Formats: sequence, C-alpha cells, structure tokens
Amino acid sequence: MAAAAAARLLRLAPRRLQVPKASPLAALSFPLPRTAPLAAASGRRQRFCAAAQASASAPAAAATGAAGEAVGEFRKRLRVADVKGGEDEGAAWVGKELAVRGWVRTCRAQRTVTFVEVNDGSCLSNMQCVLTPETEGYDQIDSVTTGASVLVEGVVASSQGGKQKVELKVSKITVIGKSDPTSFPIQKKRASREFLRTVAHLRPRTNTFGAVARVRNALAYATHKFFQDNGFVWVSSPIITASDCEGAGEQFYVTTLLSNSAEGGSLLKDIPATKDGRVDWSQDFFCKPAFLTVSGQLNGETYASALFDIYTFGPTFRAENSNTARHLAEFWMIEPELAFADLNDDMACATAYLQYVVKYILENCKEDMDFFNTWVEKGIIDRLNDVVEKNFIHLSYTDAVELLLGSKKEFEFPVKWGLDLQSEHERYITEVALGGRPVIIRDYPKEIKAFYMRENDDGKTVAAMDLLVPRVGELIGGSQREERLDYLEARLDEQNLNKESYWWYLDLRRYGSVPHAGFGLGFERLVQFATGIDNIRDAIPFPRVPGSAEF
Ligand code: 4AD
Ligand code: MG
Repeated sequence: MAAAAAARLLRLAPRRLQVPKASPLAALSFPLPRTAPLAAASGRRQRFCAAAQASASAPAAAATGAAGEAVGEFRKRLRVADVKGGEDEGAAWVGKELAVRGWVRTCRAQRTVTFVEVNDGSCLSNMQCVLTPETEGYDQIDSVTTGASVLVEGVVASSQGGKQKVELKVSKITVIGKSDPTSFPIQKKRASREFLRTVAHLRPRTNTFGAVARVRNALAYATHKFFQDNGFVWVSSPIITASDCEGAGEQFYVTTLLSNSAEGGSLLKDIPATKDGRVDWSQDFFCKPAFLTVSGQLNGETYASALFDIYTFGPTFRAENSNTARHLAEFWMIEPELAFADLNDDMACATAYLQYVVKYILENCKEDMDFFNTWVEKGIIDRLNDVVEKNFIHLSYTDAVELLLGSKKEFEFPVKWGLDLQSEHERYITEVALGGRPVIIRDYPKEIKAFYMRENDDGKTVAAMDLLVPRVGELIGGSQREERLDYLEARLDEQNLNKESYWWYLDLRRYGSVPHAGFGLGFERLVQFATGIDNIRDAIPFPRVPGSAEF
C-alpha cells in the first residue's frame, strides 16, 4: 500500500539525500527505482551536481574580493515516505541511521520502553519511535505530548508490532516546540469534521485532512501533466475582471471606494454617487465596476484563438448564497479551451482528463486511497476503478427529461422540458438510472444556458454539456462556443447584456474566428469525488462560504 505509492512518487522527484558528506549516513545507498524514469531523474541530478560545482568555486570569487558567502546547495529532504513508502515498507533501512523531524501523534509509556508516534506529513504512516530511559533527552519526556514537534535520531530496526515493518530505536530525542496537552484541540479520539472546521489551522495534522491535502496535490499535479503532455499551454486568466462570464450576476465587487473613505469604517455619505443616487463607479480604482472573476473562460478563449489548445487553473469566486455541501464562494477551476474543436471533441477531452487524473491517484496515492476506502467511503476504490475503465455515456437533455418523466418518481422540483435540472434530478440519473456511472448531458435549452454557447440547428438548444457524477452531481460544465458574430450579438441582446463591454470578446469573431469548445471543472468537487469527502468545505484548506471567512 504505502510502499507502492511512495515508490511511484519517488520516481517523479530528483533524489538527493539530505545527508552531510562527512556523515556515516552518506555511505547509505538510497533505494532508487530500477525502471526507465531513473534515467530522467539522474539526468536532473547531474544538473544539480553541476550547480554544486559552481557553488564550490565560490570561495575563489570571495578571495578575489567579492563580498558575502555562497548560498548552500538545496537538497531534497529525506522524509518518512521515502523510508517506509517503498515496496519493502522500509526493510532495506534496517540497521541504518535515520533522523526524523515531525509532530507527535501519540506517546505511550510502558514499563521499560516508551513508544512515540511521529508524523512528518509526507504520508499517512507515522514513524514509531522507541525510547528507553537511557535515550539522550529522555529527561524531556513530559514534553513529548500530542502536537509537539520533535527531532528523533536513531537506528532503523525491524518492528515487533504487526502494524509496521520497521521502527526507530531512538538514541536521542529533542523537543523542538512544546504543545500544551490541556489546550491542544486535536486529541486522539476521533473529532467530527464539523468541529475540525473550527480549527482549520490545525486540522491538516489529522489523518483525514493530511490525506485530502496530499490527494488534492496529486490531482493538481496530474492536471498539469495531462494538459502539458497533450500540448496545452497554461494561461493565467485575471482574477479581477470587468465582465461577467456567466451573466448570472453572482459576482463580488472589487472596490476601493469603501476602504478609502473614512478611518474606522466607511461613511455612506463619502461614497461618491451619481445624480440619480447610484454609486459613481467612475471614481473607483478601475473607473468602472470591477469584480472577482467567476470564470477565466472568456480570457482563455482569446489565448485559444492564438495558441490553439490552452487551459487555465486558478481561483474563481461566486457570491451565490448557497449553503450546500457542493458550493463554495471561492473555489478553483480548471478550464481548458480547444481551438478548431466542437462539442464532441470537448466531451472526449473531458472524459480523457477525468479518467487520467483518477487513474493517477489510484496508482500514486495508494496509502491515502486505502484510508478513504476504509474510513470515508467504503468501496470508493472500486467506484473510481469503474470510472477509469468504463466508457462514459452521453445523452441529450431532451432524452434526460424523458428518462426522468418515465421514472414515475416524485421529485421536489417537477420535471418539464425547458426547466433546469436540479441536483435531485442529476443524482437520480447518475446514481439510480445509470447505476453509478458518470454521464454527460448535452444540448440544453438555450434559455437556461449562458450567452456564449453555440446555438444548435434546431434553434431551441445550445451545444452545452454537463458531466454528472454520483454523489457530487455536476462536476464539469462546458460547451462549444458561438463563433458566429451575428449569432453571438443576437444572444447578448436576448440576454440584455451590454455588447460594448464585450467588444474584445466579439473581436475574436471578427478576426480569424474558429469553431472552439471548452469546459470548466470545479477542482474541489473533483477532490470530493476522488476522496469520498461529502462536504466541499473539507476539500479545500480554508473554505469561504456565506457567513464564514475565518483563517
Ligand atoms: O458550470 P459553470 O458555471 O461553468 C463555467 O463557469 C464555464 N465558464 C466553464 C467553461 O466552460 N470554461 O462552472 C464550472 C464548474 C461546475 O461544473 C462546478 O464543478 C464548479 O465549476 N462550480 C463550483 N464549485 C464549487 N462551488 C461553486 N459555487 C461552484 N460553481 C461552479
Ligand atoms: Mg454549470
């Protein structure tokens, strides 16, 4: 489990032992992977060696009169995952010296020995450290309490206990930072996720939140890898914008009118107003209303109209007052945009991307995924394997409505062609009708979708697609974009949107317009889907939701 996961991760990183050259540890052979990526890793190492040589010549420069000292060489630091994460779960380390830095999870004193579980965040597994009264620093044992940070040095030994292959026979322990056991809020007994949200600054020290953070990181890495390997260019779309991409008016204002008006709180009388009593935005920082972006898509389209396939990956904001387990006010979105592409290309890309990232975490985060499978959602590994292996299906909105009507199920929101699908409908389709498979619903009525979606030949629907997954519902929303200038202008008019403010977006249709398509995936919903965590507030380090921006 942990073994294979870390072995794979190891292949990804250039490997440099954090061992001083003079130390006896330097002689240790680090278990390097034997497969092809080794060549790449060692290639990178050679470059680091070159850097080291360059710095070695620095004293000569100093001797010639240059001031200061050379900056030391950076080395990857050896972590518990590097030791216990291999196939042998650390057996190759038996007899070798090791230093572990981390935080105490538990300390159990027995008659002759004391067991201290230390976690350094690199993996779920702790390093079991065995101390005796002879251990140097044992006089500090009263400070070795849950939450304290320590440095433990010793020799790796085979473990008698069944829970781990190896443990550390400690020769010296140093308490780095004490932790008052009477007030440290995360105790050994399992705390509820609701409670842990109130201590979001300490919750990454729990098994669940450590695992979520590592899987989230792996999903982000796999996202970049998928798009980079497929020739997409990563584009940074702006966070402050003057346009409303979704046209839904769910934006947060960005203004200095309030903060600049008065000390100790703004006075309403100081906010500049027009003659008819509205806020005079011409006096604001950007000389017009500005917002936090709800989506990077419109900017992404400009770059896809020059660089071909691009993607954005950044924070987005929605001021919708939705207190649900699937909505955040601040969330991260991945938005690829494909040039010379239609809705079928878009659906194929979304499917391949989702299958890729899910496969990636199943292969590279085995220990954490086993943890979720046991403690968070039983059967999640089988469910995700199905996602990787089975074909996704797509059906039109019209067929989906037929399916819902045919179900004879009483929904809270009755189903009718032309109405938007609610989460209860989406969940029925994926979880009940299609037995837990992801499904794409396409070709929605144009009245319920954004202005930029391409009108279909029937004149009633647009080339939109939503990818729905069990438990989460809508994970991806995308479309083929309207590339015809006259159609796009008509759609802006229909939705009472101001054509002038979209002048640059319309220019893309004036100069070398091409069919193009893209989608947006809510990254926290992906984390929910991939870990089984049922509330989106636990899928992001510091959730922003109505009424709460603590931490
Ligand atoms: O469906 P949405 O609104 O689509 C767009 O914003 C398009 N501009 C994307 C594009 O075509 N480039 O949002 C996309 C996804 C949703 O499917 C959902 O996963 C997520 O973003 N999402 C949210 N996630 C968390 N909290 C919220 N309040 C969310 N709103 C949307
Ligand atoms: Mg949507």
